[in-house]
Amino acid sequence: MLVLKNLRVKVGKMTIIKDINFNFEKGKMYAIMGPNGSGKSTLAFAIAGHPAYKLESGSMRFEGRNISELSPDKRAKLGMFLSFQTPLALSGINVFQLLRIALANKKDPLALKKKIETIAKKLGIKSQLAERSLNEGASGGEKKKLEMLQAAILDPKLLIFDEIDTGVDVDALRTIAKFMNENKDGKTYILITHYNRILHYIRPDKVLILMNGRLMKVGSAKLAEEIEKSGYEKIMSNVKS
Ligand SMILES: Nc1ncnc2c1ncn2[C@@H]1O[C@H](COP(=O)(O)OP(=O)(O)O)[C@@H](O)[C@H]1O
Ligand SMILES: [Mg+2]
Repeated sequence: MLVLKNLRVKVGKMTIIKDINFNFEKGKMYAIMGPNGSGKSTLAFAIAGHPAYKLESGSMRFEGRNISELSPDKRAKLGMFLSFQTPLALSGINVFQLLRIALANKKDPLALKKKIETIAKKLGIKSQLAERSLNEGASGGEKKKLEMLQAAILDPKLLIFDEIDTGVDVDALRTIAKFMNENKDGKTYILITHYNRILHYIRPDKVLILMNGRLMKVGSAKLAEEIEKSGYEKIMSNVKS
């Protein structure tokens, strides 16, 4: 459903993502792993259409359509969702108001409010938090739960979570993972992580290893376990030898 072909992405003058070819299939759970600075967030931004992350060459297709030139909002409307590594705080706007705008007022406000409440409850989000300015003063775990809430309401086809497990305590992580597991049918998930924590709770169909902007290895969930045991360098030295 998302096909990356010979993808090269640059930030400023520097090429960060180098020649990535991969086909993300519908309904599957992927994990992208790699050490700090390997280009994971860059890849996520490029897929979402962040203007600072430019396609140097190659292409991206989403459900058969070339999205390489589309703006982030157009990609979102096609059914792509990206949760940032560090979710931004939005002063003066709460999650309900944000979602009202995102849904272009198409949904009945009462129904939307009710849906937000139901999902917030499942995610253990306190009601005051949903009413406050988005992410303002929220803890790491609360921010990531609010991201999951927004994803659940917007109901995208492709969900990319950048470092969903960073700065999140184990209870919040478990709650988020449980929610994902219960809501994965027909959806494609890409979980970006530099360590294995979330993968203790969610079993990915495939694990992709990114290093220095290159896709170095693709394996099963077992690959994540190997990385946890031996580290990236060891695994990679085995690839080369
Ligand atoms: N906006 C930016 N400006 C300059 N360099 C950037 C920018 N975004 C990413 N980079 C560089 O790209 C490389 C990959 O970064 P990133 O994609 O954030 O890695 P990861 O998410 O795997 O830790 C790093 O060397 C980083 O410094
Ligand atoms: Mg990152």
